[in-house]
Amino acid sequence: MKIANTGMRKKVIIGVESFLFTLLFNLSAHAGDTTVPYPQEYRQWLHVKSMIIEPGHALANPFQGIHHVYANQKAQTGLENGKYPNGSILVFDLLAYEHNDKSIQEKERKLIGVMVKDDNLYKNTGGWGFEGFAGNSRSKRLVTDNGAACFSCHTAQKGHDYVFSITRQ
Ligand code: HEC
Repeated sequence: MKIANTGMRKKVIIGVESFLFTLLFNLSAHAGDTTVPYPQEYRQWLHVKSMIIEPGHALANPFQGIHHVYANQKAQTGLENGKYPNGSILVFDLLAYEHNDKSIQEKERKLIGVMVKDDNLYKNTGGWGFEGFAGNSRSKRLVTDNGAACFSCHTAQKGHDYVFSITRQ
């Protein structure tokens, strides 16, 4: 494109400058943000495993219920070799259950637990961001200590990048 006069050229330069300014502003606003995003559509991801925790089990408070574990695409290499690349996400989907005519049926969702891998953002918790969302809420967050309590238990799995679940072939 040929720019006809200096007035026009100035306008183009100002346009480019304000674009760069907006870009830098947005980047700096998000840099260092440790908020774990709600994992949209996680029920479409790989289902890794399920487990029922009954009253009396060591994890019954607060994890009594039936839970399913899901892994996004990036987390799938980790499930195989124990090393999770940044961007890996694992979801622990916990529902209440009831015994019904010799069957166990899912009931309402109690919470979801989320682990998202970012070595730079979550240095104090093994490179994982931990969060919980209450019930079906996408905004009611449960973790208030930056994941310290979650991590203190997950640290038992240090040799497997702090993840308990493994894939069964
Ligand atoms: C007292 C121990 C303990 C605490 C505290 C704990 N977890 Fe876990 N977590 C486990 C165990 C055990 C499993 C594996 C469950 C299974 O085998 O199905 C697990 C599994 C998970 C998974 C699936 C990936 C994996 O490691 O298998 C996620 C995601 C998760 N937990 C998130 C959280 C979050 C978020 C918190 C804090 C709010 C938390 N956990 C606190 C013990 C714990």
